[in-house]
Amino acid sequence: MCLKIEFYHYNQVFAGSAIEAICPDDKNVKNNVFIITGEMGFHNPSYSNGKHYTQDLTHMINVGVLGATGAVGQRFVELLADHPWFNLSTLAASERSAGKPYGKIVNWRLETPFPEKIAKIKVVPTSPKAMKDVDLVFSALPADIATGVENTFADAGMAVCSNASSHRMEPTIPLVVPEVNPEHLGLIDVQRDSGRDGFIVTNPNCSTIVMVTALAPLRKFKFTDIRVATMQAISGAGFAGVAAMSIYDNVIPYIGQEEEKMETETLKIMGTMKGNKVANASFKVSASCHRVPVIDGHSMAIWIDIKEPVEKLKKTFREYKPPIKGLPTQPEESIHFFEGEKDRPQPRLDRMRGNGMTVSVGRLREGIRFVAMGHNTIRGAAGASVLNAELITKKKYL
Ligand SMILES: NC(=O)c1ccc[n+]([C@@H]2O[C@H](COP(=O)([O-])OP(=O)(O)OC[C@H]3O[C@@H](n4cnc5c(N)ncnc54)[C@H](OP(=O)(O)O)[C@@H]3O)[C@@H](O)[C@H]2O)c1
Repeated sequence: MCLKIEFYHYNQVFAGSAIEAICPDDKNVKNNVFIITGEMGFHNPSYSNGKHYTQDLTHMINVGVLGATGAVGQRFVELLADHPWFNLSTLAASERSAGKPYGKIVNWRLETPFPEKIAKIKVVPTSPKAMKDVDLVFSALPADIATGVENTFADAGMAVCSNASSHRMEPTIPLVVPEVNPEHLGLIDVQRDSGRDGFIVTNPNCSTIVMVTALAPLRKFKFTDIRVATMQAISGAGFAGVAAMSIYDNVIPYIGQEEEKMETETLKIMGTMKGNKVANASFKVSASCHRVPVIDGHSMAIWIDIKEPVEKLKKTFREYKPPIKGLPTQPEESIHFFEGEKDRPQPRLDRMRGNGMTVSVGRLREGIRFVAMGHNTIRGAAGASVLNAELITKKKYL
């Protein structure tokens, strides 16, 4: 049997943590919506986004999270607990955590309530054998661990959507931002042609993704040189990352490997598919990265040598429409452009725009100079991976 539901705006349909009732004589509800009560919680309003879309529940995809207890892993759990396409069935972490119920060992540090229905899931060791009922895993593993582990999962036939940096620059592994280079998913076929059943798809480093998303509307102009100075949040370093005594009342003008990642990943993402390969973009990127005492949200000042009048660029940002649509985690606006406000974007005020998936751009002025800001553990990590997985699903790679 095929059960078809239409999802509507949060305020119209979703009450608290469950679909309590969808009433057929409600004027907001259209004909083919079933009445549903019970266990299925949809407390995450990001899956309505003010639009509606349909989902066939008989085809939910079983997914798991590797590194589920960490900073990014918890964001995955938050985003997947009520996902309309993905059924979060398995959670993995280190040997220290394996065998225990997730609710007992996780130190939940997000501002949203802990999704209680996940509490009883027993954490399993990080191995394909322990996760055999899963079609797709999201990886929030430290890079040194991810290298071998992600290959093992892909070799075992699973799709891996990874946040880790380990495989991002490998020629056959797509490094994707759906609004910027969805066509790079073609590299999945190259991986499969090499005899592997599964595949790995990566998303960029948390500051790179904010910059490339902000640059997406400007790709049609000629430029050769991008300079960027970042002001990056402390959550980017994970829970154990930066000691309070180091960051309080301070700015640290060094983040290991961050500048290199921004300078290289950008060229791959903004490169073009030529046959079975990505030809890197030919402009230069020069980055200076800094850790600042902000909890979430990476800000950056960007200079780009476009010779067009600034008014033309403003119009381009105003009119920008991303090349993809219909993905549940995709925000209403991929870019929010501040034109009138002189002092925006700001992390505290703007990081949760589009449920943390919108990149905010402002202060566009002669130079050409502007400021971009995005949530580093949502748009910059877990949300980026989930959006990639949705695109992979839509393009029928699973
Ligand atoms: N934080 C960000 O903003 C951000 C943004 C983009 C990308 N990333 C990348 O995402 C990844 C995760 O970062 P994070 O900040 O979430 O790190 P984190 O808070 O330190 O979490 C690490 C996770 O990995 C697990 N783990 C550690 N060693 C393991 C092992 N040997 N085998 C299996 N699991 C192991 C931990 O489990 P236990 O709890 O059991 O130890 C924990 O769940 C990193 O590659 C990072 O570079 C982070």
